[in-house]
Amino acid sequence: MGNPAFADIGACVFDAYGTLFDVHSAVRRGGGALGDKADKVSALWRQKQLEYTWLRSLMGAHADFWQVTSEGLDYALTANGIKDSKLHARLMDLYLRLDAYPDVTDALTRLRAGGKKTAILSNGAPKMLEAAVASAGLTDLLDAALSVEDVGIYKPDRRVYQLAVERLAMAPGRICFVSTNAWDAAGAAHFGFRVAWMNRFGQIPERLPGKPAAVIESLSELPALLGL
Ligand code: 2OP
Repeated sequence: MGNPAFADIGACVFDAYGTLFDVHSAVRRGGGALGDKADKVSALWRQKQLEYTWLRSLMGAHADFWQVTSEGLDYALTANGIKDSKLHARLMDLYLRLDAYPDVTDALTRLRAGGKKTAILSNGAPKMLEAAVASAGLTDLLDAALSVEDVGIYKPDRRVYQLAVERLAMAPGRICFVSTNAWDAAGAAHFGFRVAWMNRFGQIPERLPGKPAAVIESLSELPALLGL
């Protein structure tokens, strides 16, 4: 018996970065030269990357997530007094091969065995998503990897969430959207998806419109939520 809010779900749509893929694994694996600044650089990189998506969307100045990620890293390194183009290139390359979280493969396998469609809906540029999915061995566990590049604006613009409705040919109420990013969970819930906010990091809820229908701490809780 699943959660009634998730009755009649046909597809699970996942945010990519921070939800399926650990964005901090790039610095962990290739940022040895950063020493005790590693965590600070990685956190600021992520913060600026996201801020630039929101700001560019408001400015009407879209650039793809590869560029925004590169510019966020450039800011984070410079803010920490680091000028090292080889390190920048290495970390960007590692962003194409981020670690998947350990609960991802099993959850996707169980969802598909239970007859649910599975997809990514991400800010990531298509080549980034393709590379990360392949390197994590998830290609056969996903029906689609949808990128905001098809609408030219970033989350949480409604057009991004609408893309999943159109591509999966499924009403928003039949789509379970899963994100660790609380602001993305809010945006998706406000749009009309059934949202499971995966609160991996014990954050407090955002003060935004759009409330998740459920809060989980690991993807392994997802099949049961859907009654599988
Ligand atoms: C994603 O779209 C927001 O990073 C997040 O994958």
